[in-house]
Amino acid sequence: MAVSLQQVACVGRNTFQASKSAARRPKTPVVKGVAGMPWSTEAKRNPAALILSTGLAWAAVTLSASAADLSSGEDVFSGNCAACHSGGGNVIEASRTLQKDAITQYLDGGLSEAAIVKQVQNGKNAMPAWSGRLSEDEINDVAAYVYDQASNDKW
Ligand code: HEC
Repeated sequence: MAVSLQQVACVGRNTFQASKSAARRPKTPVVKGVAGMPWSTEAKRNPAALILSTGLAWAAVTLSASAADLSSGEDVFSGNCAACHSGGGNVIEASRTLQKDAITQYLDGGLSEAAIVKQVQNGKNAMPAWSGRLSEDEINDVAAYVYDQASNDKW
């Protein structure tokens, strides 16, 4: 425990005072001792950079993944839902549109992605159930798309 706390302190110092400690490092006995260990300051600084860049890469992937979900959701929607819900309307039950107000009022669970997923999976009255016909990913994507359209008044 004591060792790992010390390691954390070292990482903090190297990360936040990199330029200062780099200048002093060769003359500081404590740091010199640590530098000889497997978790030397040099070895540690690279992982810190690695963690940072991994974090950035992850954020980029996450952003592009959610953008892809919406566009794939749009495809699923036009292929499967638009027959009844073209433009966010409802050709069978005129009041049950996919507008924010209607969803908030009529959808079990209100306006949330999870509630949309549930209704798409199970259907309701004249709306057919889609589990088994659409994959889990397709249902999640189309729910994300409908939620985005409704909550941002896009239709
Ligand atoms: C055969 C026509 C039909 C298709 C196809 C259809 N729906 Fe529906 N949908 C309905 C009907 C009818 C309702 C109203 C159900 C009720 O409350 O009685 C409804 C309601 C909804 C609601 C709740 C809206 C509200 O105001 O209550 C959502 C969300 C929804 N549908 C999403 C979808 C999605 C997403 C798809 C495609 C995967 C889809 N629907 C495909 C007929 C359809």
